[in-house]
Amino acid sequence: MKRPESYFLVLILVRTGEIVKTNKVVELNLEHFDEYYTVKGDGRMAIGTSVQNQRFQLFLKLLPKRSLILDQGCGTGYVAQFLLDEGHKVDCLDISPVAIKKCKQFFTLAGFNSEKYNLWVQDFLTFEYPETKYDGIMDLFTLHFVPHENQKKILESIFRALKPGGYFFLGIMLIGSIKISEPYSRITENGGTLLKVDEIEAYRCFYLWNPYEIRSVLTNLGFKIIHFYHPLSSIEFICQK
Ligand SMILES: C[S@@+](CC[C@H](N)C(=O)[O-])C[C@H]1O[C@@H](n2cnc3c(N)ncnc32)[C@H](O)[C@@H]1O
Repeated sequence: MKRPESYFLVLILVRTGEIVKTNKVVELNLEHFDEYYTVKGDGRMAIGTSVQNQRFQLFLKLLPKRSLILDQGCGTGYVAQFLLDEGHKVDCLDISPVAIKKCKQFFTLAGFNSEKYNLWVQDFLTFEYPETKYDGIMDLFTLHFVPHENQKKILESIFRALKPGGYFFLGIMLIGSIKISEPYSRITENGGTLLKVDEIEAYRCFYLWNPYEIRSVLTNLGFKIIHFYHPLSSIEFICQK
C-alpha cells in the first residue's frame, strides 16, 4: 500500500523549550481503525454521521431510483445499509479489513442480495476512480486523515467519478475540532494537527480546514452546494455536479 511521503516523517517538535521527538507519526492509521472495529466498534453505529439527520434524509430524497452509490470509508456499512434498503446499489470501500469483514457479515445477516453491493478493502489514495459512473458518492468523516493536497486530488477524482447532476455528500472535521493547546497536540509543517492519542500510542495526524477553505475547494472544482450544516467542529455538505 502506498503511503504519503510524510508517513515516516521524523518530527522534532518544540514545546516551551522542550524538544519532543517521534518517528511514529501515523497518518492513515490503519491499525487504529482495525483496533477500533475489533475492540470498541460494535459496528452498528455510524461514527461520522447520523442517518436520522436532515442531510442524510435529503441525500436520500435527491437520489434517483436504483442509483449506484460509492461510500468511501464506509466503516461497517451502517450508513450504506440504508441505501440498500432504499433499493440502491452500493460500492463500499474502507482501508480497514476488519471493517469490511464486519460489513460483509452485517449485509449477509440483513439478507441483502450480494449483487447489489461490492465491498473492497481499499485505500482511497490508491483507488482508481472510474469516470462518470456514480449517481452519488458519500465521504463521511474520512478525508481529514490525509494531507490537504491529497484531499484536493481525491475530491477532484470524486467530481469526475460522478455522473453529470450526481450528488456528493461530504462530512468533514474542521479546524478547532482538536484542542491544540493540549499537552499532546502539535502542528506540523504541512498543516497537520497532531494529536497524541494516549501516553503510549503514536501521534495521529488530522488535516483540517476552516469552513470557508473547504467550501472554496468544492466550488472551485465545479460542485454546486445545495445544502450545508455547520456545527462548530465539523461541516457537512450536499453538493451536485
Ligand atoms: C470516522 S470513520 C467514519 C466511518 C463511516 N463513514 C461513518 O460515518 O460511520 C473513518 C473511516 O475511514 C476509514 N479510512 C481512513 N482512512 C482511509 C483511507 N485512506 N482509505 C479508505 N478508508 C479510510 C477508516 O477505516 C474508518 O472506517
